Amino acid sequence: MKYVIGVDLGTSAVKILLVNQNGDVVQEVSKDYPLIQEKTGYSEQDPKVWVDQTVAGLSDLLRDFNGHPESIEGISFSGQMHGLVLLDEKNDVLRNAILWNDTRTTAECKQIYDVIGKERLLAVTKNPALEGFTLPKLLWVKKHEPEIYRKAKTFVLPKDYLRYKLTGRLHMEYSDAAGTLLLNISEKTWSKEICDLLEIDENLCPELVDSHEEVGKITPEIAESTGLMTSTRVLAGGADNACGAIGSGILEDGKTLCSIGTSGVVLSYESSNNKEFQGKVHYFNHGAPNAYYTMGVTLAAGYSLSWFKDVFAKDETFEELVSEVGTVPAGSNGLLFTPYVVGERTPHADAVIRASFIGMDSSHERKDFVRAVMEGITFSLNESLAIFRENGKKIDTIVSTGGGTKNEEWLQMQADIFDAKIVKLSSEQGPGMGAAMLAAYGCGWFNSLKECADEFLDVDKEFVPNKDNVEKYKKLFDIYQEVYAQTQGLNKKLADYRK
Ligand code: XUL
Repeated sequence: MKYVIGVDLGTSAVKILLVNQNGDVVQEVSKDYPLIQEKTGYSEQDPKVWVDQTVAGLSDLLRDFNGHPESIEGISFSGQMHGLVLLDEKNDVLRNAILWNDTRTTAECKQIYDVIGKERLLAVTKNPALEGFTLPKLLWVKKHEPEIYRKAKTFVLPKDYLRYKLTGRLHMEYSDAAGTLLLNISEKTWSKEICDLLEIDENLCPELVDSHEEVGKITPEIAESTGLMTSTRVLAGGADNACGAIGSGILEDGKTLCSIGTSGVVLSYESSNNKEFQGKVHYFNHGAPNAYYTMGVTLAAGYSLSWFKDVFAKDETFEELVSEVGTVPAGSNGLLFTPYVVGERTPHADAVIRASFIGMDSSHERKDFVRAVMEGITFSLNESLAIFRENGKKIDTIVSTGGGTKNEEWLQMQADIFDAKIVKLSSEQGPGMGAAMLAAYGCGWFNSLKECADEFLDVDKEFVPNKDNVEKYKKLFDIYQEVYAQTQGLNKKLADYRK
């Protein structure tokens, strides 16, 4: 039997999967690491800790592995997106990585619009200037830490640094480069124009490769400390959302993914590089060669539900909390929730907006609130689907992954609110599986990622829309969409009041 390893370098932990030729996960290891939050809005990590924890995880995995390490043919990566890792001329790390969920860069986003112009930025990068993306972070370091910036010779993204430490070779690949705001998305080249206008040396940008490309082999030192062989092939890997899409089989036009974790994502395969979404949804290069995906993000998806549980049902399990939602009719007896507990990204990039319950009635019970929270999260994701559909995308089937699949009522809610068939996969490992699939494809096990998905992924269950509920939800969604505009001014005043 042959094997590959998929490493998912996440925000809270690195998860490592050992996958065999049939796509079975035969071993799984996870190692945590902390966030460093020195000030409100700051979110950093020490890249050395990513490497140490990955090496520790790999050596645990190899220690328990029954087969011969030589049968592990390839390893690839999925990574948290956008995080800035700055390296000096020896490729040593210059400062902590500034992560995707760090929001210190509002002034730099404005600077990007002022210098480049919103229209031009969208034409080149297909995405708006958001605090989370890499370019604003680079500009922040340039302005606030000029001595560090002066020493910088290269910038990379989190999993690129990890891969560098495993191979000694430095690269970036297109799916993650797409989240920097420095890549010309359609031409797949670094944008000299953006670099020049913002006075960033283009040489800071590393060499670009495809996600399935072999970029090196395991170094003797890493082989020694992990038990891997120096013959193990290292394939570039992809952004976590691209890998989540690969690991869910989103590999041809018409395929769409809904992933509800802490944040929520809806993502749709896109074969063309020239559709216009005016920056309302993200438009990134896929990990599949010469493909793209469009994506909307709800910042607090699962997080809205865990917030509700922590505040109102601390001593209960999630199963207990959601156990009665099936007894509440669609529409939660007229109670509506918007999931903006930490602001929102799509379609309202707004750090100030906050959540609401609208329509609270003395007849409402706690279970109405729980269902309303689940519906509100789903409505928020449906706003991104509505943008896809307005732009001519046909969405009739959606693969659902993440914590949102643990409750069947929620899967049915997704079918009814999205008005699409919802597919639950039997083994849903998401990004880690996508990384393993990139390794399998890169090692030549399959002729395409699609062929690999056909072999590796199976459907567990499907949920079809209930016509009555679809109609009820359409009416409620119209009201939901009004809540943002109606509460925006109030939340601005409340934010000023809190200061
Ligand atoms: C995507 C994004 C997040 C991170 C999480 O734009 O910011 O999904 O990739 O790791």
